[in-house]
Amino acid sequence: MSYKIKYINLAAQHNSIGNEIKREIDNVFKNSAFILRNSVLKFEQKICKILGVKYCVSVNSGTDALLFALSQAGLKKNDEVITPSHTYVASVSAIDHVGAVPIFVDIADDFNIDPNLIEKKITKKTKAILVVHLNGRCCDMKPILKIAKKYKLKIIEDAAQGFGAKYNGKYIGNFGLAAAFSLHPMKNLSVPGDGGFLTTNNKKVYEKVLLLRDHGRIKVGNKEVRKCYGFNSRLDNLHASIALIKLKYFFGWMSKRRKIAKFYNQELKSISDHIITPKLDEKNKLYEDTFNSYVIRSKKRNALKKYLLKNKIEVFSHIDKGVHLEKNLYSKNIKLPKTEQLEKEILSLPIYPELSKKQQLTICNAVKKFYNK
Ligand SMILES: Cc1ncc(COP(=O)(O)O)c(C=O)c1O
Repeated sequence: MSYKIKYINLAAQHNSIGNEIKREIDNVFKNSAFILRNSVLKFEQKICKILGVKYCVSVNSGTDALLFALSQAGLKKNDEVITPSHTYVASVSAIDHVGAVPIFVDIADDFNIDPNLIEKKITKKTKAILVVHLNGRCCDMKPILKIAKKYKLKIIEDAAQGFGAKYNGKYIGNFGLAAAFSLHPMKNLSVPGDGGFLTTNNKKVYEKVLLLRDHGRIKVGNKEVRKCYGFNSRLDNLHASIALIKLKYFFGWMSKRRKIAKFYNQELKSISDHIITPKLDEKNKLYEDTFNSYVIRSKKRNALKKYLLKNKIEVFSHIDKGVHLEKNLYSKNIKLPKTEQLEKEILSLPIYPELSKKQQLTICNAVKKFYNK
């Protein structure tokens, strides 16, 4: 189906910075600079500077960044890792791949793990909490950090959807042993394909992940030394150079996303009996969201979704089945009432910096029309 308004429009983004990108692609080819070259290092340095972290290792996906982060948490077979089920499957598969067991905790109204429910799930086997900052909103880290300290648990951040968001003035990527970011095209900062990076303030983690992403290889003087087995998980130099260009515009794009979210909230106020919009925290600034997704809740989600799609407005219910409900993965009857309730209600409206005021109005009017029919 062709949509009047797409959910995201990377072609529009390309229209605005395409010439710069084309020149850079040309440079990469002219210099035959493809693997672990200058742009990769420059990108990692830039990320450290922006986020205020000591170390960054770029890798080939958010999934690998998560896997490498969890591999550094000192987990033994059957150790337990607390995490939400309302997340992309990659968060949970990373726990499984390192031999640990995910222990699911229900979510709060902001779609992130509910800190009030974590302590009940802690056992002698619990060794870590994998927080997932969904939709560009940081988890409520203050109580989570307190629990982690009390029970000596490691924190790993799934920051795949969280680049640029802050909590209490601090960027996501600074709250645990390591954080995993994605550069997938659906993310606020993206490359044309797969990509990701890991941030950490721990030198040992940094040095190990550098080895893991490049088959255990490191240069000592002029010699290449292999220190361990690793993987081929490098961010392409071409992708790093494109991400570097996008970083120049990133914060301008984020302020446009915030403006759109604010506009939607205002416009949709008149139907607040029917839908719940995201809570914006403009006063206290505990949360500075980046709206990787703008998610509303509606009891009539399926009908509303059908109506908007029929009117050629592309919308999604991105995570409408928690990982605990995947019967091939979890046969146990795990109950997460809030997760299951919200997953029936969520709907993501189009949001991207190039979305015009007229398009934003069209979307809001269509949602309102559905309820005023
Ligand atoms: C919450 C979350 N975790 C992990 C990932 C995995 O990232 P990637 O697709 O870059 O491997 C994603 C991306 O879809 C995600 O949204």
